[in-house]
Amino acid sequence: MDDLREKYIALIAGAGDEAALEDLRVQAVGKKGEISLQMRELGKMTPEERQVAGPKLNALKDEINSALAAKKEALADAALDERLRGEWLDVTLPVRPVRQGSIHPISQVTEEVTAIFAELGFSVAEGPQVDSDWYNFDALNIPGHHPARAEMDTFYMHRATGDNRPPHVLRTHTSPVQIRTMEKTGAPIRIIAPGRVYRADYDQTHTPMFHQVEGLAIDKDISMANLKWVLEEFVKAYFEVDEVELRFRASHFPFTEPSAEVDIRCSWEGGQLKVGEGDDWLEILGSGMVHPKVLQNAGVDPNEWQGFAFGMGIDRIAMLKYGIPDLRAFFDSDLRWLRHYGFAALDTPNLHGGLSR
Ligand code: PHE
Repeated sequence: MDDLREKYIALIAGAGDEAALEDLRVQAVGKKGEISLQMRELGKMTPEERQVAGPKLNALKDEINSALAAKKEALADAALDERLRGEWLDVTLPVRPVRQGSIHPISQVTEEVTAIFAELGFSVAEGPQVDSDWYNFDALNIPGHHPARAEMDTFYMHRATGDNRPPHVLRTHTSPVQIRTMEKTGAPIRIIAPGRVYRADYDQTHTPMFHQVEGLAIDKDISMANLKWVLEEFVKAYFEVDEVELRFRASHFPFTEPSAEVDIRCSWEGGQLKVGEGDDWLEILGSGMVHPKVLQNAGVDPNEWQGFAFGMGIDRIAMLKYGIPDLRAFFDSDLRWLRHYGFAALDTPNLHGGLSR
């Protein structure tokens, strides 16, 4: 009996899996198992012999059964551990490669421009896209007969018949925000006003809705020199180059005097735009010293205050910086285009981390 015990305890301890364990159970305590056969021998024994051998055999059978049960549990535990190790999952990983949305180049460039001017002390102002012709024209020194009104291809808003008030317009530029800001806060002022503007025009470089950013700085002693410096700083930061050359071309806007259109030196070698070098000039904005009549119309005393203003096409500088050839595609909502030209959602532009990286 001791031999049997030793043999099966050792075999059970060494069993590799549940199937091997089941074989051992059948071999030892199954109907025809070794221990069961021994139990059958009890019948042939004398009552005295049986009294000694019976309990011993029963105890052995119990011992083998509990060894089998313990081993079975141990094997099940080990199997579970193994499975857990094999099926381990990092629940912090993304669920699966989901195609994420992207930031539209217009939004990206607006953020870039805002970040640069914020660094120069300009805050962001806003105005309505549907505005009165007072704010869009008259207050900006563009009277009703002025050719600039016709040039702007204005969209007029429909009014109920019988209403004799002048029609509202979809603003043709962001300049009305100059007036609204001066009225609201008075001088001194340092703001930019990015936003949508509208003109009835449509070709490769014009869409009926596009974006401008207005700049306005009013103080006691602001001059064209300040304008030039601010624009140079802006252009360097925006195009991410160390040197730029600006050219101020005399121009005319009713709301600035003097007025200048600003070009930047560039080259188009190999169809690739390079800013800061070359023999070409690229017009990027209109600007000038705010006309005294405009200050006056907005309730700012022109004898005390003066300043500069500029207006720049956001779509245009986005096309230039990111090599996007057709403006109309900006507003087609074509997913392939958006995936190609879009920006990662969490890369907020700032001057220290890099604008466009
Ligand atoms: N509003 C002008 C335009 O849309 C741009 C401009 C703004 C010019 C401010 C001078 C000063 O063309």
